[in-house]
Amino acid sequence: MDETTSLAPDDLVRRHVQSGRSLVAVLHAIQDEVGFVPPAVVTPLSRALNLSRAEVHGVLTYYHHFRTSPAAPVTVQLCRAEACRSMGTEALAQHMEARTGCRFDQGHDAGHHGTVALESVYCLGQCALSPAMTVNGTLYAKVTPQKFDTILAAATEAAESEAKDETTTHTKEPA
Ligand code: FES
Repeated sequence: MDETTSLAPDDLVRRHVQSGRSLVAVLHAIQDEVGFVPPAVVTPLSRALNLSRAEVHGVLTYYHHFRTSPAAPVTVQLCRAEACRSMGTEALAQHMEARTGCRFDQGHDAGHHGTVALESVYCLGQCALSPAMTVNGTLYAKVTPQKFDTILAAATEAAESEAKDETTTHTKEPA
């Protein structure tokens, strides 16, 4: 997000609603800009696109791709579709929950100090190399519990040092 980004719902909607642009395209554009779709945009969006709030809300919640709150610093997406399931995804999912203290698809408020979120997805295009997952958008194939532990440790460490850097930057005295 750059310095000029405004999270004000009306501004966000004004920036992204263009004639001929579909609701889904506008939601994508908003999520690309701020990382999620704030629920407060539903009303201005419905006004701008001449739809009911229920219609906008329905589309927003129908597509798993859209999130309505910021992503966790470490977001794990595990493929739970057929090919991966046949290669032991569900046992891996249980391991992930036990390791992180999080439940799948519950957001990141609970468990692992709010750092990690576990999300189910259905096919990452790696069926021949299952089980597959992404961590913060990076794709991993043939994931084992041990491989997951190593990747999680590295991602958590990176997220924590990034958070520390941000705190230092924000608390630094002006020169
Ligand atoms: S089924 Fe898991 S990547 Fe396709």
